[in-house]
Amino acid sequence: MFSDSVRCLVVVGAQWGDEGKGKLVDVLAEQATIVARYQGGANAGHTVRVGEDEFVLHLIPSGILYPTRRCLLGNGVVIDPWTLVEEMEGLRVRGIDLEGRLGLSRRAHLVLPYHRALDAAHENSAGTEKIGTTGRGIGPAYRDKVARCGLRIGDLRDAGRTREIVERGVAAANAVLERLSTDERVDTDAVLDAIEDVRGTLLGLATDTGEELRAGLASGGRVLLEGAQGSLLDIDHGTYPFVTSSTTTAGGAAAGVGIGPTLIDEVLGVVKAYTTRVGNGPLPTELDGEAAERLRHLGAEFGATTGRPRRPGWFDASVVRHASGVNGLTALAVTKLDVLDTLDEILLATGYELDGEPVRGFPDSAADLERVSPVFEVHPGWRTETEDCREWEDLPERARSYLRALERWSEVPVRYVSVGAARRETIRLPAGGIARTS
Ligand code: IMP
Repeated sequence: MFSDSVRCLVVVGAQWGDEGKGKLVDVLAEQATIVARYQGGANAGHTVRVGEDEFVLHLIPSGILYPTRRCLLGNGVVIDPWTLVEEMEGLRVRGIDLEGRLGLSRRAHLVLPYHRALDAAHENSAGTEKIGTTGRGIGPAYRDKVARCGLRIGDLRDAGRTREIVERGVAAANAVLERLSTDERVDTDAVLDAIEDVRGTLLGLATDTGEELRAGLASGGRVLLEGAQGSLLDIDHGTYPFVTSSTTTAGGAAAGVGIGPTLIDEVLGVVKAYTTRVGNGPLPTELDGEAAERLRHLGAEFGATTGRPRRPGWFDASVVRHASGVNGLTALAVTKLDVLDTLDEILLATGYELDGEPVRGFPDSAADLERVSPVFEVHPGWRTETEDCREWEDLPERARSYLRALERWSEVPVRYVSVGAARRETIRLPAGGIARTS
């Protein structure tokens, strides 16, 4: 998708996360000079396969697997420093040279041990609505950020300020833990000691991500801004309150790295050829029983971060039209088409009805979304392996017909179809998408 006129591209998930963004970022990183993440934290889990090796990355952009790419974590990311250091070690052990290739925004906030403790305590406390979080401390870390009492990478330069922030954070966290009737307590010195272990590494990587990206673009570089989670988990545009605590959509990309939105040229939305969701909240096209079990196993739908089984459903064009609107999608990438290869019948939801009436737009209320009935179109399965297809013409006609319908109902041109986890298992389509093919 990069070209002379496309220098800055955002890649977002256009469903509930786990769409296969990691693979697409990996494919596109070949043409990029800098890859930057703009939100989320170690709640993300990107599985990328290179040759025989499989990497699961939680924080570091998958662009790191290309030898010379610079990878950044923007100010919008919440960084769990111990997970980061572990991930860096894991990459080094596998022979990946990180020297000069990783940068962290000085404005990025840290996820501290008390954020994890609070995440677990909130989820386990009676009376609160269970979100089914990843337990990585994401919500509490963003809460401190917005409440203006978080610890930023840049603060680590000042030991006194770091102690002050941690002392206040620990006191506030312990008060909440007590109120939520858990036995767990956090200790200021233990937190400070743990920070000391990673302080030098973090400060050594600290940078101004906005400045770097602007300079990179000005000197002819190509920038890929990598979203985590999915649009339906966006704090504003997702299925609130069953969402994550950041702006996952493309609007957050500029703010989350420190550039202006006018520098962004294109927004690629990644969707699975079906749908999955982890955690609680509405999923209108959800499958149950044996059909769910089958799709879950065919697609190996278990969370990369938590190992939880994902909830599978049919492709939902209402979701993707909503995602397209709030992101300004210019193209779609459809992943995991091959997972549907053995099915006799494939359903695609074209819209919803509520109380017998067609639903216009996308419901803002999770309760309404729980009650809608999807309107399904039924497509015959192609019952042929697609894994070896490399060109549009290689796909069986029934698969092409399904993808044509998916593009038509989503109202976004499909530029990529992925038929396997490996980089080469990708079909590229022209600008304008399937509609431009014969
Ligand atoms: P949190 O981000 O851990 O607070 O979790 C909030 C919601 O987002 C839960 O439903 C999680 O399952 C979901 N979530 C967070 N990260 C991911 C992800 O990378 N993929 C899919 N779902 C996610």
